[in-house]
Amino acid sequence: MAKLKKKIALIFGITGQDGSYLAELLLNKNYIIHGVKRRSSSANTERIDHLFDSVNFDNKNIFIHYGDISDGTSTLNIINKIKPDEIYNLAAQSHVRVSFDIPEYTADITALGALRILESIRILNLKKTKYYQASSSEMYGLVKNKNSLNELTPFHPRSIYGVSKVFAYHTAVHYREAYGIFASNGILFNHESPRRGPTFVTKKIVQGLTRIQKGIQKKLTLGNLYAIRDWGHAKDYAVSMWKILQYKKPDDWVIATNKENTVKSFINSVAKKLSMNIKWKGKGLYERGVDQNSGKIIIDIDKKHFRPSEVDFLKGNYSKARKYLKWKPSITTEKLIDDMIEAELSKFD
Ligand code: NAP
Ligand code: GDD
Repeated sequence: MAKLKKKIALIFGITGQDGSYLAELLLNKNYIIHGVKRRSSSANTERIDHLFDSVNFDNKNIFIHYGDISDGTSTLNIINKIKPDEIYNLAAQSHVRVSFDIPEYTADITALGALRILESIRILNLKKTKYYQASSSEMYGLVKNKNSLNELTPFHPRSIYGVSKVFAYHTAVHYREAYGIFASNGILFNHESPRRGPTFVTKKIVQGLTRIQKGIQKKLTLGNLYAIRDWGHAKDYAVSMWKILQYKKPDDWVIATNKENTVKSFINSVAKKLSMNIKWKGKGLYERGVDQNSGKIIIDIDKKHFRPSEVDFLKGNYSKARKYLKWKPSITTEKLIDDMIEAELSKFD
């Protein structure tokens, strides 16, 4: 019997949270993976180092290339060399708060970076290459009606990160309509994991409270405790990315859990699991979380963690993905928190 040709995937953003889970998934599906890593002064490959372990993964199936999506020539050259079956564009300046400090850079990477990849596919005339764009619930921004958001809900971004993601979203739709490229958007709501970057709120909370419990940190300083988010697990969301590119036609898909939590309720859940009893006192910038066991203030608020314009509410309706992609989240928020706490506690073993 003829041997089936292995599929080739190219992942921009392989060193990030999602890139690492996606690479694991695709290696297990027998893909050949090419990942693009930008140059940095330290290795910055902690999330993918285990993939080069020849016992669990066949390390002949993964290759890393230096590149940067701010550099159109290197992007085109890499795509030309590999001619992948599937391109996943997960690369971005992905921190919303930081996009207020470095708006031009954020737009260059998060918006124009997507354009550079799609232009490369077009110029190289790669008819069979499918493109996945990591779109975001942050595109919805100012939500007027606090129902679950779906593929038809209008966008009103509240940060240059959100504005850039709207650009990249429409660029993918445009290349699909104008040039017939298989370009799909996954509109992913917040997803977290033990591999989440330390300045995103869930990781900051889990890491902070764990360290406070272990006596190596005194206080956790946060911003808006009342934003509502729909938090899923990154491992589940990597599966959706792959399913989106296996669907019979390119399309746009909301990926979410359809559950809502405030930042404060997330803190309370983490604290409870760590057997910490937090009592809340005060309001606004003066709100404090007091540890009932020690009587000490362990959570306070600093206005530097607020955004000039906030996204107050995000909850996603993933019915379309459930119906057509047969995708649904398998990991609850409670289990996500357990995973994140377990990973933090294991650092003290
Ligand atoms: P992440 O951990 O911040 O990873 C971003 C990745 O992009 C990293 O590998 C980063 O490399 C790479 N990157 C940054 N600038 C680059 C450049 N100029 N050239 C090439 N690569 C570059 O983000 P994530 O949470 O995995 O998210 C993946 C994607 O999904 C992002 O586009 C994000 O905006 C989007 N998204 C995320 C969520 C979420 O809740 N996590 C929700 C919706 C959409 P370094 O490792 O060198 O920094
Ligand atoms: N980061 C951070 N740090 N956020 C805080 C803090 C803090 O100290 N205190 C309160 N928050 C609030 C933010 O104001 C926001 O309302 C909420 O916690 C979540 O913040 P982040 O975890 O930074 O995530 P995000 O929702 O802004 O953006 C993430 O999700 C998007 C999808 O909706 C990122 O992963 C984006 O890349 C992604 O597109």
